[in-house]
Order: sequence, then C-alpha cells, then structure tokens
Amino acid sequence: MTDAIATLDRNPIVALPGLLQGAVRTAFDPLNRAIDTAYRRLYQGANYRMRTLAGGRLRSACRPVSIALLLTERCNARCVHCNIWQNKGKEESPGLEHWKTCLTDLADWLGPVLVTLTGGEALLQPFTPELVQHGVASGLAIELLTHGYWADPERLERAALADPWRITMSLDGIGETHSLVRGRPNFWEKSLASLKMLKRLRIEHRLHTIIRLKTVLMAQNIHSAGEVARFAREHGFEVFYQPIDKNYNSAEDSRWFETAPTWPKDPAAAVAAVNELIRLKQEGYPIANSFAQLEAMIPYFRDPAALQAAVQGQAAHEQQPICSALTTLQIQANGDIGVCHSKPAIGNIKQGNIRQIWADRPRFWEKGCCQAGGKTAVG
Ligand SMILES: C[S@@+](CC[C@H](N)C(=O)[O-])C[C@H]1O[C@@H](n2cnc3c(N)ncnc32)[C@H](O)[C@@H]1O
Ligand code: SF4
Repeated sequence: MTDAIATLDRNPIVALPGLLQGAVRTAFDPLNRAIDTAYRRLYQGANYRMRTLAGGRLRSACRPVSIALLLTERCNARCVHCNIWQNKGKEESPGLEHWKTCLTDLADWLGPVLVTLTGGEALLQPFTPELVQHGVASGLAIELLTHGYWADPERLERAALADPWRITMSLDGIGETHSLVRGRPNFWEKSLASLKMLKRLRIEHRLHTIIRLKTVLMAQNIHSAGEVARFAREHGFEVFYQPIDKNYNSAEDSRWFETAPTWPKDPAAAVAAVNELIRLKQEGYPIANSFAQLEAMIPYFRDPAALQAAVQGQAAHEQQPICSALTTLQIQANGDIGVCHSKPAIGNIKQGNIRQIWADRPRFWEKGCCQAGGKTAVG
C-alpha cells in the first residue's frame, strides 16, 4: 500500500489510478493497465470537451493531452517526406537528468497519461532506453516512436525490455516501397528485423507493449496502403495511417502540394486507397485510426489547401477550428517547450517545473490563434 499512500500528495483525480492500483498492483497487473486506460480515456475526453464546453469558458483549465518529447533533431535516415535528417552539428540537449525530471513532473501533475518519446530519431540518444525505463517507473504510458533502422538493435532491445505502453515503428510500405520512402538501401530488411525482434521479446518476456506501425499515405505508397494493415494483422501489430503533409523541417509554403513529389497526383486513387482502409477496418483489420479520422482524409486528398491547417494540427476530423495551445505540449531537443507549431516557445524545461510554465503560457486561444485567422478559435 506504500504506493497508494504516496499518491495522496497528488491531485485527487490524478491519485485515483495509483490508489486503486496500490491495493492490487502485484496481484493483478492487467487490472492496473485497464484502470490506466480508463483514466486516459476520461482525461482525454474531459480535456478535449473543456475546449468548447460552455462556449469555451473552461478552456483555460485544459491540460496537455498530446505530449511529445523530441529527444534529438538528428537522424540517420534519408526520408523523402521529411528534412529532419538534413540537420547537422552539435545539439544543446538538456541531458538525461533534466529529461527525467520532466517526466517525473508530468507524472505527478497529470497521472498515467500518454507521453511520446520521439525525434528526429530518439534512439540516436544513448540515454533513451534509460529514459523509457524512468517514464515507465514513474507510471506514465510511454510511447517510443522510432524508424527501427538499426544494424545493432541493443538500444531498441533495452527500451523494449522496459515494457513501455507502446512502441511505434514507422513503416511506409512493405518491401522496396519502404526502402524507397526512407531513402536508404535495406531499410525494409532492417525494419523487418527490428519488428521480428520486438515480437519475439514480447513473447519471451511476456511484455504488454503494443506494437504499432505508422504509415504516412503519400504518392510513393498510395497504391499499396492496405498491405501494411494485412502485414499488421499477420504479426499481431496495429497500424495508424497519417496523410502526407508538407515535408517536416522545410520552409513555409502554402502551395507545397503542387510541386512535392510526395503528394498523390491522382485524387481518385488516393480516395480509393482511403476507402479501402475504411473497408479493411470494418472487416476487423487492426487499424487504430477512428472512422472519423479516415473519412477526414478524403476531402483532404481532394482539396489539400482547404484542410491543411487542420491536418498540421492533426485535427482534420474536428468539427470546428480549435487552438492547439490548449492541449498540445511538444518539447524540442534543446528543452524548449512548444504548444503550437506557429508560435514561439513558452519556456524551457531547464528553467523549472513544467506545470508552472504551462500555467503561465500566453493565451493564444484568446488572441492570435492561427486556426482562426487571428480571432478567437472557439467560443
Ligand atoms: C518525424 S518522425 C520521428 C520518429 C522517427 N524518426 C520515425 O521516422 O518514426 C515522426 C513521424 O512523422 C512522420 N512524418 C515525417 N514527415 C512527414 C510528413 N511530411 N507528413 C506526415 N508525416 C510525416 C514520420 O513518417 C514518422 O512516422
Ligand atoms: S521521418 Fe523520422 S526517420 Fe525519416 S528523416 Fe524524419 S525523423 Fe528521420
């Protein structure tokens, strides 16, 4: 019961999963995971609802729901849809201890919420497996997002043995399609070896980690999008599809899709691909997107200009524009804390407690939200 008593120092709602789990932690682990999952559903639902409830009067009380730590902005891939690999030179990382403190503070403040460790390529940082272990031990639902392109899988293996909530591996196609998108020979072979290792570790060590594939729908794979869902089902994984956006880390260009080699030039083929995914999901294939998320891709592929602002906020299925600063927390590789891709950082994790920095952030949703052309986004 010691764990349960320690959680009493926290906000009572945050403490609830810990209190319930403390009584049964060793006895029935699946129950702990079910309680955490229920908590996350409630947490996400309540915070998303508060953005618009009562004409938006509660939105200042929103807490972060989409939380990502970019542990490095360097990468050893050469993807056609992302320019992050072009970043060069030394980085000013906050270092392992600051990152650990950040995770501890998030867990104390928010409870067992989902936190994604990503990059660039997170596993280029030698300390990433230890940070995964720390996040799991803090009670967070840790997701590690990686490309899986490792000749030496030691870091990925150590991270997996920490039994995080989810390991998500990008997989943009089966076979040569994946290597083509990722810009290096044998990318498919190495990714496949990583996935087989994760699958084996999960069985041998009785891990609970969800193995998710992440596929960006683009010109290079639009004719074979369903193959990843079939592969996922065959191996006991799930898959999440995302529509192509302007190359990450590239200059602003509102008409990027007119020239980008990644944009599917034939809208009918793109719509047919999305409809196939909807059908596969209806048939029970493990596609993690909601039907609303899949359906929202259809008007996007038909008319990208109209919907790209929402897609950049990854909220194309939302009914009305909503300021991302209400529920987004993205921490850059140097520790800078962002809440919107078009606004300056609100602070740095080296400066102090993340909760305080969040509370003191500018109220972009009241004035200057990019989703509403400078007007109030909601309410
Ligand atoms: C920036 S990467 C970082 C994690 C890791 N390096 C990887 O590739 O999985 C995170 C995700 O963003 C996706 N991504 C990169 N560029 C994109 C773009 N232009 N449009 C949509 N998604 C993109 C990647 O495919 C990957 O799934
Ligand atoms: S998508 Fe991931 S793997 Fe590809 S260049 Fe960007 S950060 Fe690297």
